[in-house]
Amino acid sequence: MRSVIDIVDLTTEELDELIKTAVDIINNPNKYSEICRGKKLATLFFEPSTRTRMSFEAAMYELGGHVISMTDAGSSSAAKGESVADTAKTVSCYTDIIAMRHPKEGAAYVAAKAASIPVINAGDGGHCHPTQTLADLLTIYREKGGFDNLTVGLCGDLKFGRTVHSLINALSRYNGIKYVLISPEELKLPSYVKADSIKSKNIPYTQTTDLESAMPELDILYMTRVQRERFFNEEDYLRLKDSYILTPDKLKNAKADLSIMHPLPRVNEISAAIDDDPRACYFKQVLNGKYMRMALIIKLLKEAGTI
Ligand code: NCD
Repeated sequence: MRSVIDIVDLTTEELDELIKTAVDIINNPNKYSEICRGKKLATLFFEPSTRTRMSFEAAMYELGGHVISMTDAGSSSAAKGESVADTAKTVSCYTDIIAMRHPKEGAAYVAAKAASIPVINAGDGGHCHPTQTLADLLTIYREKGGFDNLTVGLCGDLKFGRTVHSLINALSRYNGIKYVLISPEELKLPSYVKADSIKSKNIPYTQTTDLESAMPELDILYMTRVQRERFFNEEDYLRLKDSYILTPDKLKNAKADLSIMHPLPRVNEISAAIDDDPRACYFKQVLNGKYMRMALIIKLLKEAGTI
């Protein structure tokens, strides 16, 4: 059974195909409004979420399907000690596809092994978040017209920020990509991500702690939240949480066509004064996430022979 646990589960051709489907959904929503009629999506969220869960649910409704949802692990049998594998087997009896978020790295993989229906990883701990990357890719595609020759600044919590890990893997497949990795020393990109997705492909990158000096060369600035829930102690979080706060004055040397992205939720990383700047793309990412999740649900249910 085909599941999507990591962005590496999708080939570059498939990423391009999902973007094509999403663009077609945007242009011809009626064509897709009954495609999942009578089918059910389960959203299993063992961690907080607003956008990811609701966009999956909105996606399934807009495809004519239904949704059943577990939003609070405390009210499910997980609280009695049920394993992720048993939960996945159980939910396979009720629905056609699962979107799951869990605080433990690898949990979605375990669920996919046990389930008899497709499982989509909606974020597993500090590991990866492939469908946020789909949202990010459609946003970049719509803003920039493609992915080649972009200088991409990734700023904030590059260590625990799972969206960054998945996005780097995806963008590294295109030509002429350059990265500027901007983070405090303690929150640098994990070496496995650097080795697998940057160094192995000889992609040029620089690492810095200084956002402002990096600004002029960036085509994309991807801001991230310091991931409080992954810290071992609150003191470290408090010390690092406001490392980068993007305010209008910090953009004075930025390109006129910079795309400012953030997977959201933001805490302090981007001042609300930037929201009306035409370069702000973070609420576009929210909407694009729904279209890409629609495209992914269609793809996986077609491959499973469900639709
Ligand atoms: C992100 C996540 O859950 O990793 N949020 C999201 O899905 N849009 C980013 C975050 O929580 O900081």
